Amino acid sequence: EPEVIRDKDSMRKWSRAMRLQGKTIGLVPTMGYLHEGHLSLVRQSLTLTDVTVVSIYVNPGQFSSTEDLSTYPSDFSGDLTKLAAISGGKVVVFNPKNLYDYGGETKKINDGGGGGGRVLSCVEEGGLGHETWIRVERLEKGLCGKSRPVFFRGVATIVTKLFNIVEPDVAVFGKKDYQQWRIIQRMVRDLDFGIEIVGSDIAREKDGLAMSSRNVRLSDEERQRALSISRSLAMAKASVAEGKTSCAELKDMIIKQLVGSAGRVDYVEIVDQETLEGVEEIKSGVVICVAAWFGTVRLIDNIEIDVS
Ligand code: PAJ
Repeated sequence: EPEVIRDKDSMRKWSRAMRLQGKTIGLVPTMGYLHEGHLSLVRQSLTLTDVTVVSIYVNPGQFSSTEDLSTYPSDFSGDLTKLAAISGGKVVVFNPKNLYDYGGETKKINDGGGGGGRVLSCVEEGGLGHETWIRVERLEKGLCGKSRPVFFRGVATIVTKLFNIVEPDVAVFGKKDYQQWRIIQRMVRDLDFGIEIVGSDIAREKDGLAMSSRNVRLSDEERQRALSISRSLAMAKASVAEGKTSCAELKDMIIKQLVGSAGRVDYVEIVDQETLEGVEEIKSGVVICVAAWFGTVRLIDNIEIDVS
């Protein structure tokens, strides 16, 4: 099984020792409960670098107080077994307990309320003992940013912390979370991180459902209905191939398919692949992004359409 590193200092020491040996380092940030989508990122990182750090950390800084932090699934020993099978000794796992532990301040607030193991959320800035946040101002606003206003600042901030601790050469992100990938790419450019950001294709179940740690929370019936997402996206892409260019018509098509099956459609948007700004007519590379609820589970998916 891969070596597990539990604290920031040991992680940084490990990375610096690798660097001294002339080895290049890949980083795959995750929140655990690993599935084939995560593993495909790890495999990609292993082809690009000598050693790969897989971080497993459920980041309280990116959940709002109403979101599913306390019920987020986990299976740490299962994760290690999966990684052992593909790592060839070239993977270490970084599994810190709390990346917002700066000494006394956090502890005091943790112990204060008598709530014991109360889960801290990102809206309680004092509660995390943390007050510095990274915002990618325009890119974080649309798509998932509308319903999750503090999500991307939490992601950009934790990814920055991981970059500073691990000091990787390459970091791999899934296009499943398309906006997240573009935000990290933009942050790295804007802030001159010397890290190559790689976007990796969406891993899907045989029937098309995009893999997600949250899929386990779908009932059989919800999971069946959730197929409408990937199906409607594939159908939209086929329509573009047949010559349809009106985004309003394409969005209509998708929404019609979703309303019958999803509990609630959060958004269907057709945006430029880089700026993530809405487009009306398909002329250049776009991505169609969908977020919808099935029961208590919010799912996202997307499909890139390149126009040559
Ligand atoms: P998590 O949801 O665990 O995802 C970790 C990485 O796996 C992300 O880059 C995500 O895009 C990728 N991924 C998830 N499902 C995928 C799929 N079906 N195909 C391809 N890649 C997939 O995303 C996060 O964690 C967090 O926000 C994190 C970046 C770790 C910051 O806390």
